[in-house]
Amino acid sequence: MKKRILSLFFVLVFSFARADEGMWLVYLLGEQVYNDMVKRGLKLSKEQLYSINKVSIKDAIIIFNGGCTGEIVSPEGLIFTNHHCGYDAIASASSVEHNYLRDGFYAKSKTEEIPAKGMFVQFLVRIDDVTAQVDEALKGLTGMESATKLRAVSAEIVKKATDGTGYEARLVPMFKGNQHLLFVYERFRDIRLVGAPAESVGKFGGDTDNWEWPRHTGDFSVFRVYMSKEGKAAEYSADNVPLKPKYFLPVSIKGFNDGDYAMIYGYPGSTNRYETSFGVKLKTNVENPAIVNLRDIRLKLMFEEMRKDPAVRLRLASNYASVANYWKFFDGEAKQLLKFDTYGQKKKEEEKFNTWAKGKPEYENIFKQYEKIYQDWAPYTKHRIYLNEGIFGSPLIAFSASLGAMERALTKKPINADELQKVSESLDKARKTFLESSNHASDQKIVAATSHYFHRDIDPSQHPTGFYGIVSAYGDLNDEATYKKYAADLFSKTMLLDDTKWSAFLAKPDSTTLQKDMAYQYSSTFSKNYATKYASYATNFTLQNNDLGKAYLKGVIAMNPGKVMYPDANFTMRTSFGNVKSYHPRDAVFYDYVCTLSGVMEKYKPGDYEFDLPANLIEAYNKKDFGQYKDAKLNDIVVAFITTNDITGGNSGSPVLNAKGELIGLAFDGNYEALSHKIAFDKDLNRTICVDVRYVLWCIDKLGGAKNIIQELTLK
Ligand code: ARG
Repeated sequence: MKKRILSLFFVLVFSFARADEGMWLVYLLGEQVYNDMVKRGLKLSKEQLYSINKVSIKDAIIIFNGGCTGEIVSPEGLIFTNHHCGYDAIASASSVEHNYLRDGFYAKSKTEEIPAKGMFVQFLVRIDDVTAQVDEALKGLTGMESATKLRAVSAEIVKKATDGTGYEARLVPMFKGNQHLLFVYERFRDIRLVGAPAESVGKFGGDTDNWEWPRHTGDFSVFRVYMSKEGKAAEYSADNVPLKPKYFLPVSIKGFNDGDYAMIYGYPGSTNRYETSFGVKLKTNVENPAIVNLRDIRLKLMFEEMRKDPAVRLRLASNYASVANYWKFFDGEAKQLLKFDTYGQKKKEEEKFNTWAKGKPEYENIFKQYEKIYQDWAPYTKHRIYLNEGIFGSPLIAFSASLGAMERALTKKPINADELQKVSESLDKARKTFLESSNHASDQKIVAATSHYFHRDIDPSQHPTGFYGIVSAYGDLNDEATYKKYAADLFSKTMLLDDTKWSAFLAKPDSTTLQKDMAYQYSSTFSKNYATKYASYATNFTLQNNDLGKAYLKGVIAMNPGKVMYPDANFTMRTSFGNVKSYHPRDAVFYDYVCTLSGVMEKYKPGDYEFDLPANLIEAYNKKDFGQYKDAKLNDIVVAFITTNDITGGNSGSPVLNAKGELIGLAFDGNYEALSHKIAFDKDLNRTICVDVRYVLWCIDKLGGAKNIIQELTLK
């Protein structure tokens, strides 16, 4: 079984050194790709990269809290990841009095480490190729039948692989479902915050510099993973001991040059390199502008309140940062796709495919069908985005939507008391979490703005029946003020924001009270409208798009015998290789491969919310107190550098390794000029932005005074 797949995808290859494109599954690294790595400078054996039986680099790489990458850097389970990956944990550990987010934090001994409630990390235990079993089960099925069957076999395979082991597993389709791999993980839940720089270092440059080079951000944070005394993964306990890892990464403080080999391990979240021209067009014309438009207004309204009050700022910081991050991404992505004419390039590839497919019944109609499914779905695309990013972009309304479970439990006949009890408890908990991280003033404005935008921008035939009739009682529907009055009324009346009314409701829940609640009415009007009239279009589109994607990829593989291919990113462990490398972003402009602490000082704006600096950094800089972290050539601290590696979101926190497998930095961003990278990798402009590990150590040592952390590392 494995062999068939191997011969299909990985063995017949051309022998030329490719560009830096590719997020390779280390587990299936073909000879050819490995040889390319060696040609580019790698000094390690294949076994050192990944081995089933022996300790290898892969044993030091972890999934950090379900969305980022981290790496083990000491024999006592010390973890390095990005500041923006630890952000939520740092913000949660902070208060206005002990503001670790603003001021930074370093534990000087293990007893000072702060348990990061709810956080977890996962180690990859093994990978099984289960393609044959899945193919057998799905034989002849398409659409919903295939999706349903896949869920069933997946559950079966996962169960068989993990029962009684304490492990967990995820079945992942590769090459759009032409291959299926099972990833088995061990999850550790006792994670503690060990160190973080002040936000003015860890997020230096803020959203202005986000997704851009040159970048002067110290985007790192330090955690530790604990295990039970018996050496098992365990919940938090004061008795737990630091994890003894199978492997940890040595750290190089020797530095590097332009052109040096660089390799990145990590968990890239998603790419869609075989997106069709139809998909690209919908993205650039409809999806991204809609998302950007809605995030724009939400950010503005949140910021208005954050500006007024440090407590609100802390409360909204994490949510604001994540909304802002992809607001800029989607904007840049659409711009770059248009600039590169990715649509035109896709069209050309598709014409080539269609020519090849002529007379092959399995493939010749794929693009006609694509055209049809996009035609059917396009009229509702914007509606769905305005729901997710608009109406439910309000934290209150998003929470309110979760009360749907309560309505279902209350309208069931007969009512199941156990179920009702469970739903009540979980909603009460969810409400606490919602209240802890929300701000009513900004939220109310968000409800006003997004209900207005929905009315203004979505085809009236798709508006929820009757809803805007209700709002018109507050005034003219084309007037912003009307929606403000409506939202004010909703916020003052809903029981969801009123502890007394909420407790009374939970003590004796009934469907009439729920259905009459203004916030619930609002959220359920919009979600029911979508669910009953439009969700089926989305489902049909997704199912058919999946089937077509699978067929298309199968065709692409058949059309290019021998071509070495990598599967799209899907949050499984990958490695990518390339070089440290300067570039020309546009005519007459040259971007160096490193930036320095002197450059941080050039950007410094006292009191600015993005470009301020901690006093001790300025002091250490003025004293040239660089210690062993100084770059000899530059006589400065190197803060960040760029490489040609192919990565994407999810890789945040990934180790950047030199040819010997030593840690030289942490990947934390992509560059603006190549923000179309999810769909098309640009071989000239794509860069990965990395914080230099020497800057990380300098901050820990000289600014944080945490020699205890430095002593745990193995410095080369
Ligand atoms: N762009 C980075 C990423 O997606 C996140 C940077 C966070 N910083 C910020 N200013 N939002 O990994």
